[in-house]
Amino acid sequence: MSELLTGPSARSREAVFPAVRPRRLRRTAALRDLVRETSVGPADFVYPMFVTHGRDVRVPIEPMPGQAQLSIDNLIREAAEAVQLGIRAVLLFGLPPNKDALGTGAYDQDGIIQEATSALKQALPGVLVITDVCLCEYTDHGHCGVLLDDGTVANDETLELLSRTAVSHADAGADIVAPSAMMDGQGGAIRAALDAAGHGDVPVMAYASKMASAFYGPFRAAADSAPQSGDRKAYQMDGANAREAMRELQQDAAEGADILMVKPALAYLDVIARAREAFDLPIAAYNVSGEYAMLRAAAANGWLDERSAMLETLTSIKRAGADIIITYFAKDAARATGSGRMIR
Ligand code: PBG
Repeated sequence: MSELLTGPSARSREAVFPAVRPRRLRRTAALRDLVRETSVGPADFVYPMFVTHGRDVRVPIEPMPGQAQLSIDNLIREAAEAVQLGIRAVLLFGLPPNKDALGTGAYDQDGIIQEATSALKQALPGVLVITDVCLCEYTDHGHCGVLLDDGTVANDETLELLSRTAVSHADAGADIVAPSAMMDGQGGAIRAALDAAGHGDVPVMAYASKMASAFYGPFRAAADSAPQSGDRKAYQMDGANAREAMRELQQDAAEGADILMVKPALAYLDVIARAREAFDLPIAAYNVSGEYAMLRAAAANGWLDERSAMLETLTSIKRAGADIIITYFAKDAARATGSGRMIR
């Protein structure tokens, strides 16, 4: 060990109370600001939005107070407001007019996401449009892929449909595609399809570690995407498995994912931290609908201070290791932090 580490100053660093008084650095707001290790601000956030057909439509989503299904005109208005607040990226989910067994609305050139993406890019070229690539909002059975008679979801047959969906989003101008169906090989299949279609520059943000979670409940009401039979446990992961999560992340990285996502965020902060340690790719974390709903509901009852609980939650996700936070709180948190970083 060097003199520096073993000398008298190191010894005094090992000293304890009363020489060491951690409270010294907590005495004033300025001191606390100076030594704060983690901060969050609008540039960290991705704002998820739900888009539907029609004009001037705004259907509030009951279990997600403050969020709504929006027609494209209102989507543009809402996105412009987010941009004003310093948010640079949105994540789009679509509600098609019709559903069928193969989820054709997902890869229809004139589908809701395709239309919304091109309209949004035209109105606000600077906004980063990320699209969710999945079939569950578009299938009449509500599963994320091709459903077989025996109730299982066919993996390899689904890859083709997800690839078509991703390419159609990129054709419409999506800046990033985010496959969330949890089919094996989806990242690689989509990468190859994008490259073959001349979209070699469009990054894939892989929902790499996606658990079968009760915290998606409010989202399924919002996106009308609940499975009509069974559940998603045969394709989404078992939340008990962190080592398996690392294998999923590894696999997506190997398939060429540009950004790795961990979802949900709060019940899986350990997975975010392990992902941060193991990979040098950007790590995204999805602060999902149920996490949002819990906090909003408690705050509505006066049981929590909403602003501080929100900022503490977002900070925990960042501190665990996420570079990017996908959150329905994006606008509120941007308002709370200003265009700069969080000041508590
Ligand atoms: C699938 C998808 C889901 C969410 C994002 N993409 C739902 C699911 O897997 O059932 C959930 C997001 C949230 O709960 O906020 N298209």
